[in-house]
Amino acid sequence: MSASLAGRRVLVSAGPTYEDIDPVRFLGNRSSGRMGFALAAAAASLGAETVLVAGPVRLETPPGVRRIDVRSAADMHEAVLCGLPADFYIGAAAVADWTPRGVASHKLKKQPGVDTLTLVLVRTADILADVAAHPSRPRCVVGFAAETGDDADIARYARGKLERKRVDFICANRVGVAGSGFEAEDNALRVFWNGGERRFGPAPKTRLALHLLDFIAGRIA
Ligand code: CTP
Repeated sequence: MSASLAGRRVLVSAGPTYEDIDPVRFLGNRSSGRMGFALAAAAASLGAETVLVAGPVRLETPPGVRRIDVRSAADMHEAVLCGLPADFYIGAAAVADWTPRGVASHKLKKQPGVDTLTLVLVRTADILADVAAHPSRPRCVVGFAAETGDDADIARYARGKLERKRVDFICANRVGVAGSGFEAEDNALRVFWNGGERRFGPAPKTRLALHLLDFIAGRIA
């Protein structure tokens, strides 16, 4: 391990977001938050002033990390942009791409004889793209991509995201297979940047996080 992040500010997002439908229901996803928490822990252990914006997860705050809890994609967007300026932004959160157009103030009730329900969803703001386009853009912006396709699809989607969102690195991982992704202890990542790619893992998320940060910090040093 060679990199030191002393004197640097690292902003990390982690976990899912919950998009409320009514007072008792929401749309969520299977992100555990572990990868983002491991990255925040690694950043703090390398000496960075570390801020972690966390969606709804049941995880302990890593030592030396300042944590801000949020619920929805809109809350996370606000908290992340308020966390700028930073030297690094690592968007490990599985932010909802869609949210209900409105939150019902009362619990939605079943209607006799009606057996379908239509929810209208609208796109959420893209936090990663907004951080990358911000006047106080961090020197290094890192996004994640959870994919279910084959190797060639993963590379194509990740390179598309690099370009579209104007970020420095995309860490792609395969979900829906054993030993990788959302609820697993271990993970395997393919990290893409303009003109390159490197594979990390499979390894425990804590070890992977240290290697990844060390690598990224080294590449932009
Ligand atoms: N992201 C974000 N804000 C959103 C949606 C996603 O910041 N509203 C970030 C995530 O934190 C992650 C990356 O964007 O770093 C994931 O990109 P996204 O385009 O959401 O990936 P997919 O959902 O896999 O995209 P697609 O549906 O196009 O495959």
